[in-house]
Amino acid sequence: MNLVLLGPPGSGKGTQAQRLAAVLRVPQVSSGELLRACVVEGAPIAGAIRESIDRGAYVPDEVVIDLVLRRLEQPDAQTGFILDGFPRTIVQAASLDQALAARGRRVDVALYLAAPLGILTLRLTGRRAIEGRTDDLPEVIQTRLRISLDTLQPLIDYYNRQGKLVRIDAGKTVEEVDREVDLALGLVD
Ligand code: AP5
Ligand code: MG
Repeated sequence: MNLVLLGPPGSGKGTQAQRLAAVLRVPQVSSGELLRACVVEGAPIAGAIRESIDRGAYVPDEVVIDLVLRRLEQPDAQTGFILDGFPRTIVQAASLDQALAARGRRVDVALYLAAPLGILTLRLTGRRAIEGRTDDLPEVIQTRLRISLDTLQPLIDYYNRQGKLVRIDAGKTVEEVDREVDLALGLVD
């Protein structure tokens, strides 16, 4: 299964992607994780990536597209993948479709994890104490949430037009969200 997870910061993309990767035995491909790894490894563009992440701004399309599409070419992603945090722009979505189509593949389902702003803020603030992500500072959280509000709708429309979008109420408990996702993917009755 080739799955895309869309949703604002804190909606549970990483939580669901990790769980589904184990259930479906396909890799979780997180653009945020790939970018943070570039920073840690000191890639040539590490400074610019870090600067964008720490501001809560998007990294340029060409950088993320190159990173994610190269990851999807790895052997373990040939039978399926769970994309977490990519695509985030229409340019990214179109590049993904094009790259997959060139190999006779396609996105099967796009799950949109929707949750109220208050819940998202609480979750991200809570996570900072545990994970210490440099972009989980209050003012950066607000920037990330604002940018996601501005950019999500075109992607929702994009996958809706393709008949692939499924909206999940991701403001509920983890167990409830797990169940709704599994139902949407036909993993349980
Ligand atoms: P990224 O790492 O993707 O961060 P994000 O989109 O801001 O999302 P988060 O990882 O914060 O949240 P999540 O939805 O994964 O939720 P999680 O499961 O952790 O991107 C970081 C940065 O990289 C971006 O800001 C940008 O700069 C750059 N970037 C990445 N991709 C890019 C792209 N495609 N283009 C351009 N730039 C890009 O859950 C959050 C917390 O809530 C956790 O503590 C979790 O345990 C908890 N939780 C989860 N579900 C529930 C639930 N149902 N109930 C209660 N708690 C829950
Ligand atoms: Mg995440």
